[in-house]
Amino acid sequence: MASRKVCLLLLLLFTTQSLEEHIRSFHMISMIGQTFKCAQTTCLPFISLITLNILGCQIACLDQTLCEAISFRRSTSNCQLFADVLNQTGNMSYDMDVVTMTEISTTRFSSEHYITIASSSSSTTTTTSVPGWITSGNMTVPRRLHAASTLGNGKVLVTGGYNGINYYNSAELYDSSTGIWISTGNMSTPRYSHTASLLANGSVLVIGGTDGSTALNSVELYDPSSGNWTITGSMNNARQYHTATKLANGKVLVTGGSNNGVVLNSAELYDPVTGSWTVTGTMTIARQYHTASILANGTVLVIGGSNTGSAVNTAELYDPSNGIWRTIQNMNSPRQYHTASILANGQILAAAGYNSGGTLNTAELYNPLTGTWTFTVNMNTPRQRHTASVLANGKVIVAAGSNGSFINTAEIYDPATNTWTNTGNMNEARQFHTASILANGTLLIAGGYNTGGALKTTEMY
Ligand SMILES: *[C@@H]1O[C@H](CO)[C@@H](O)[C@H](O)[C@H]1NC(C)=O
Ligand SMILES: *[C@@H]1O[C@H](CO)[C@@H](O)[C@H](O)[C@H]1NC(C)=O
Ligand SMILES: *[C@@H]1O[C@H](CO)[C@@H](O)[C@H](O)[C@H]1NC(C)=O
Ligand SMILES: *[C@@H]1O[C@H](CO)[C@@H](O)[C@H](O)[C@H]1NC(C)=O
Ligand SMILES: *[C@@H]1O[C@H](CO)[C@@H](O)[C@H](O)[C@H]1NC(C)=O
Ligand SMILES: *[C@@H]1O[C@H](CO)[C@@H](O)[C@H](O)[C@H]1NC(C)=O
Ligand SMILES: *[C@@H]1O[C@H](CO)[C@@H](O)[C@H](O)[C@H]1NC(C)=O
Ligand SMILES: *[C@@H]1O[C@H](CO)[C@@H](O)[C@H](O)[C@H]1NC(C)=O
Ligand SMILES: *[C@@H]1O[C@H](CO)[C@@H](O)[C@H](O)[C@H]1NC(C)=O
Repeated sequence: MASRKVCLLLLLLFTTQSLEEHIRSFHMISMIGQTFKCAQTTCLPFISLITLNILGCQIACLDQTLCEAISFRRSTSNCQLFADVLNQTGNMSYDMDVVTMTEISTTRFSSEHYITIASSSSSTTTTTSVPGWITSGNMTVPRRLHAASTLGNGKVLVTGGYNGINYYNSAELYDSSTGIWISTGNMSTPRYSHTASLLANGSVLVIGGTDGSTALNSVELYDPSSGNWTITGSMNNARQYHTATKLANGKVLVTGGSNNGVVLNSAELYDPVTGSWTVTGTMTIARQYHTASILANGTVLVIGGSNTGSAVNTAELYDPSNGIWRTIQNMNSPRQYHTASILANGQILAAAGYNSGGTLNTAELYNPLTGTWTFTVNMNTPRQRHTASVLANGKVIVAAGSNGSFINTAEIYDPATNTWTNTGNMNEARQFHTASILANGTLLIAGGYNTGGALKTTEMY
């Protein structure tokens, strides 16, 4: 152990199958000259085989979902696959002939929607994977301006929406293990441009919206275990195009929106314990088509949106501890129909949108430490009514939207390099769709509409 010298090497390993459209990968840490010092039968490898080289050994591990680590003996090409790495750690010994590699948990990835351009050498691989989109099951009906929530059981609940003619009270569930949508209980009323928030106990709180003739103050709860809906307390104000944010204390903050054409500056809090709503201060400005993001310290940042027809650049913070709203530095650009994403470093990325100058390709970052907004590099495509989702790797994927025409492109912001990179085109151009991150990190885009009308199609990235 004294001469223990651990060389850490990050590898992205892949294997391709079926016309190079199926890729699996994981990241491994490599310990050169280390071997598992196994003294009991419980820590024996579950498979031993001979492989051509260490890459073959890695691929063998990738093929076995149980496999968490490998040991490759160079002189004999003996490849051992281990399932229970916890049984091995702290029991390494020195053997220059052996390379041991352990999978970094959570990096295992299996996907059928990667197109791979790859080259590999004997023990390390260089891959350039161009992630792509694949279609998933159709929803039971076409929906736009619906809401989507990823449930604790991994399913995605989609509620309401509009198909151009009808407003839906219906809801459906996406089963990510089958890619199939099935109807679940109906809401009490049709709604679109509503919100849906996942509560701490797994229920979904669906708030407001419009039934097609009037804005709604009604609120209902979906119970994933029964598939039933229950009416809960109504808001003080009917509203659509508002925001809803679950706070750290479990309450849900609703801001702004519009009530039959009147844009609102009011904010209210839902208390899940009492099932009732309380007004909580007023924003300094009325807004709809804005965004609300929860900062690391629990305050809520509300930005942009439309006031009386025109986009605003104002930003304000809500402090849940005292219910006070406070204006902070303006964004550099007014924007509505933008997105706001919370980055791992605590900054907020406001992307694209629309103002009197047209559809925007600008993006800017709010730094909570300095309280300032700074433009990042411009996006590749101006867009509004798009979605933005933070991926497991910390990057932000912006999908679809419109800019005069409907957009099927998607682009990714990398906070580490401050760059926007186009990724594969989507199967369908769309706006007013939803974007949900599934439990395994896959992004699911559902519905929306384009020149062909409302969409029931969905696609995964
Ligand atoms: C790991 O090492 C410890 C201490 O040397 C030993 O007691 C234990 O049995 C070893 N575990 C295995 C699985 O070999
Ligand atoms: C080690 O293996 C034994 C037998 O398979 C298992 O019962 C035990 O939980 C494992 N220990 C750890 C830390 O995973
Ligand atoms: C999904 O809907 C689209 C548009 O209606 C249709 O073209 C496609 O065949 C459907 N896909 C499946 C799997 O039913
Ligand atoms: C994630 O889940 C989706 C839906 O079940 C599936 O199609 C996809 O292959 C999964 N991706 C990974 C990396 O497991
Ligand atoms: C849900 O509502 C739709 C009409 O929107 C109706 O066709 C359907 O039968 C209802 N489902 C249930 C389970 O009540
Ligand atoms: C769900 O609703 C159905 C129909 O109203 C009812 O029979 C059932 O008891 C409800 N389930 C739960 C768990 O509340
Ligand atoms: C979840 O919380 C809501 C709001 O407090 C409550 O109405 C509902 O009954 C709870 N659901 C379950 C399954 O406990
Ligand atoms: C939370 O962070 C914001 C942004 O940095 C700051 O303006 C605010 O004062 C902080 N609030 C609290 C209660 O710490
Ligand atoms: C709108 O987006 C399309 C494609 O997504 C792009 O080709 C076009 O240049 C964009 N229009 C403007 C005005 O930027």
